[in-house]
Amino acid sequence: LAMLLKTMIHFLAMTQLILKASKLKNTHSISNIPGDKSISHRAIILGSLANNTSIFQNFLMSEDCLHTVKIFQQLSIPITLNKENKTVTIQGQGLYGLKPCETQLDVGNSGTGIRLITGILAAQSFPTTISGDHSIEKRPMKRIITPLSNMGASITGISIEGKTDIYPPLHIHPSKINAVNYTLPVASAQVKSALLFASLFSKNPSTIIEPESCRNHTEIMLQNFGADIHIAGKSITCSGKNELSNPYKKTITIPSDFSSAAFFIVLACLIPNSNWTLKHIGINPTRGTLIDILIQMGATITLKNKNTQDMEPFADIEIKGSELHNIEIPKESIPFIIDEIPVLAIAGLFAKGTLIVKNAKELRVKESDRIKTTKALIEAFGGSIKEYEDGFSLIGQSSILPSPVIIQSQGDHRIAMSGAIGALASQRDITIHNTDCIKTSFPNFENLIKDALL
Ligand code: S3P
Repeated sequence: LAMLLKTMIHFLAMTQLILKASKLKNTHSISNIPGDKSISHRAIILGSLANNTSIFQNFLMSEDCLHTVKIFQQLSIPITLNKENKTVTIQGQGLYGLKPCETQLDVGNSGTGIRLITGILAAQSFPTTISGDHSIEKRPMKRIITPLSNMGASITGISIEGKTDIYPPLHIHPSKINAVNYTLPVASAQVKSALLFASLFSKNPSTIIEPESCRNHTEIMLQNFGADIHIAGKSITCSGKNELSNPYKKTITIPSDFSSAAFFIVLACLIPNSNWTLKHIGINPTRGTLIDILIQMGATITLKNKNTQDMEPFADIEIKGSELHNIEIPKESIPFIIDEIPVLAIAGLFAKGTLIVKNAKELRVKESDRIKTTKALIEAFGGSIKEYEDGFSLIGQSSILPSPVIIQSQGDHRIAMSGAIGALASQRDITIHNTDCIKTSFPNFENLIKDALL
């Protein structure tokens, strides 16, 4: 019955986004791209484990991050939100300050939430259960369960017939955490972060080795909060020798999310003669690589007012409309653009030549199977795209269907938003089904689109 109710609520909640072919502003400036999702999750987690108070500004008030807030409140951390000022205040209770919670913890749609938080729950002296929405119940968890079990954790989940992985809900039993040396089988910041968080609960150092570098917000924040962490190339060593403490006396400002900005960066590239500026965007090199890729494809993008304040680098991004040509994406760039690949495919649709994305098997286990959903997205525009096990190749400027374009988001926020960008760039009417998911990461997306119309 609970399952049935959940499904019914899911269907009732389904929404549509309908855009009419419209002209966009040539000169435009956007200063309210919301805060970085990855950093916002980590702000709550490390703020809770610190032994003092932290105040973060430009916190992402989206469903994913609000689920993380609620979870730490349920674990007895005093957290207050000021939604108007986008500020969150966390009264950290120290590494051992979390308290038992009887109810099942709910991450909503957030893979980052469930993986990162499980790393901490694994080390608690009380049991917990954690799960999320329909999509979360299909996300593979063996990637964290195996290494966390090597550290002494005890986690059980659900087996699904015909599949070899383990899925939420995860039941986490009280355990003592030991240090580990572990080489990640895939470059995943979520897995790396889960293990780094667990390593905070052992006095002996753990070493985690990444096969390819991937986003490093956890390492940056741990360093700033005084953790015993050492980074040597792709090897990260961390222990719980030090207490965590927020060193900033003032409010910490979270940069705006590069992955959200990416939709407008691609759109601006595709508008002839445009001159757009996106303000205060996070440009951590493990995140901003789409800019280098687009420049290689012929885009005119300049970073202005570069600065590093409160841990992470940010800049204003100036984009001028340009003719693009497709390229083959280098293997080592894939982890740095993993969330931007659907919107990169939209850029590829309007560029000359063939866009080749390989070594990106991780796309299959995102909010949707993003190789399949990106293929369906491109085909909805009449584009020609071939699917590989680990990516796709797409012939740009292939035949484009007349309006209206109809897209199913498959509950994936980035597919829904990429569809909107494709329609705006090609001045087509579009109907995108099931767009409620956009709220998980980018609550003001529709408003920012309206502001960009002539
Ligand atoms: C994230 C890591 C990435 C990314 C996700 C956010 C994070 O996942 O796709 O949206 O905040 O650590 P993987 O590291 O598992 O690829």
